[in-house]
Amino acid sequence: MSDTTRSKPCRIIAVANQKGGVGKTTTTINLGASLAKLGYRTLLVDLDPQGNASTGLGISPASREVTTYEFLLGDARPMDAIQPTDVDNLEIVPATTDLSSADIELMNNEKRSFLLFDALRQPLLDDFGFDYILIDCPPSLNLLTVNAMVASDSVLVPLQSEFFALEGLSQLMLTIRDVRQVANPKLRIEGVVLTMYDARNNLSQQVEQDARDNLQDLVFKTVIPRNVRVSEAPSFAMPVIEYEPTSKGSIAYRALAKELVSRQGAETSVGAV
Ligand SMILES: Nc1ncnc2c1ncn2[C@@H]1O[C@H](COP(=O)(O)OP(=O)(O)OP(=O)(O)O)[C@@H](O)[C@H]1O
Ligand SMILES: [Mg+2]
Repeated sequence: MSDTTRSKPCRIIAVANQKGGVGKTTTTINLGASLAKLGYRTLLVDLDPQGNASTGLGISPASREVTTYEFLLGDARPMDAIQPTDVDNLEIVPATTDLSSADIELMNNEKRSFLLFDALRQPLLDDFGFDYILIDCPPSLNLLTVNAMVASDSVLVPLQSEFFALEGLSQLMLTIRDVRQVANPKLRIEGVVLTMYDARNNLSQQVEQDARDNLQDLVFKTVIPRNVRVSEAPSFAMPVIEYEPTSKGSIAYRALAKELVSRQGAETSVGAV
């Protein structure tokens, strides 16, 4: 493992939930863009072979020559892997389907769980002066997600406001606990954010109540509403905060960024869950 000292504190947050389609990528893009708007230099690491975060921020497949795959394997320098986006202060390491083979290829690599940790701690990355690094995880508790958890200070969990939302959480919490025990004792849960919330729907309200009863302060006060502008924005290769700044989705993600910044430093033990 490389030296963990960094010249400037940078918070590394894995956005993870093994359940598919719960809003991980949408949250990574829009939280990242909102942090960037607040003036924080922010890096997104697209750790999903689907490459949705890269597409959503307008990185065309043709310009993804150097990707998370090479960055993870130490085959690419940060300056070659990191690309600017159209949002000031927001940069990205894009992904392609190449990443899907990493799981199997890395099986015999004894550092397989620490590759992203090392890639994000290399001194060359310090030159970029990032304040936040957000990692968009795939919908699986596979080696890529484990790499994200090992490399991160905390895990942010998007929870879709619908039936069965809480079902997969215990498996996710067990994985966090395992990573804590074997590799990253300081890994915290940043928080659980309710996504695609529909205030007129009793089910959304019930999921929120259950989540707050079970997870208490771990649940962000900010709730992300279901909002058509949020789902339209990626097809215009923009975060919603650029595409439709006054939309409910945009306002919510900007509030989430502020809440995240203000919560920073609050110790939340995984053991409490
Ligand atoms: N607040 C919202 N309002 C409306 N649609 C939303 C919202 N959040 C996400 N969506 C839509 O829901 C779908 C799933 O969202 P997203 O891709 O962010 O989930 P994901 O967890 O990253 O999925 P995967 O597990 O496949 O990576 C997308 O079509 C997205 O546009
Ligand atoms: Mg995704």
